[in-house]
Amino acid sequence: MSKKTKILITGANGQLGQVLTKALRERHGVPNVIASDINLKNSNDSNYIFLDILNTERIKEVIADYEITQIYHMAAILSANGEWNPAKTWNVNFNALISILDIAKEGNLEKLFFPSTIAVFGNTTPRMNTPQDVPLLPETAYGISKAAGELWCNYYYKRYGVDVRSLRYPGIISYQSIPSGGTTDYAVEIFHEAIKHQHYECFLGEETMLPMMYIDDAIDATIALMEADYSSIKTRIGYNLSAMSFSPRQLHLAIQQYIPDFKITYKPDFRQGIADSWSETIDDSRAREEWNWQHQYDLTKMTDIMIQNLNKQYKSN
Ligand code: SER
Repeated sequence: MSKKTKILITGANGQLGQVLTKALRERHGVPNVIASDINLKNSNDSNYIFLDILNTERIKEVIADYEITQIYHMAAILSANGEWNPAKTWNVNFNALISILDIAKEGNLEKLFFPSTIAVFGNTTPRMNTPQDVPLLPETAYGISKAAGELWCNYYYKRYGVDVRSLRYPGIISYQSIPSGGTTDYAVEIFHEAIKHQHYECFLGEETMLPMMYIDDAIDATIALMEADYSSIKTRIGYNLSAMSFSPRQLHLAIQQYIPDFKITYKPDFRQGIADSWSETIDDSRAREEWNWQHQYDLTKMTDIMIQNLNKQYKSN
């Protein structure tokens, strides 16, 4: 008989982790979803624990104490922050993954989720409609750690039978939580600044097209992948995943439909070079074929939901 599902989320305080924790708790019940992070914010939540993912012994204790069967390993340092401390980025993004893969290999986990990213692509990757199977030649510390992580996930699956599943997330847009240290963060900051100051100074140039996704789609994709039949998951590196692509100029125009006076100025910094090495659009047909992935949100729908919800948040504060 299979064991009762008990989930551990690492990086539960991050942009995706916060919303994923809520979604998984709605599905499995609060006591069955242990949220963990190195930043303790929810002190009233008894199913929320401090966890340093570099402390492998502590991870093993947590798995044993809470009888964990699945890990969503969301903790990571993103692309822009990664450039300030490449060695730490490798340690956090890669070495911690290997420790968790080893724990899974010892037979202590049923399933593992590893978040990958469009940052695994690089300057030599076709930028339009980027195919699933391309050589991965990333140029950021973050991208290198995630590309290596994907390859090791595939290795642990093939060699040791570890059921590890992975997605290459585009930039994620959410009102419930804010990203930190990424290159796609502008697409969240812009909404806050549009509502608060009717002005945003963008750190990317106006025509910088990047793949993006509204958070509900990202959470749905994550849970759908993890719940898909074992036999349908034929890809054990990160699945390409896509919903929409837009430039800062196009997002500015979309927000102006709600805030006509909203102005944008452009002051590209080092993040421009990172964005320029990534794809503009992604071919995610493999995910659509193998486990029926479908997105719900495009630029118009996402902009509407962001403006409505952030307006409410700022009014109630
Ligand atoms: N959102 C991430 C970043 O910008 C990409 O995965 O770093």
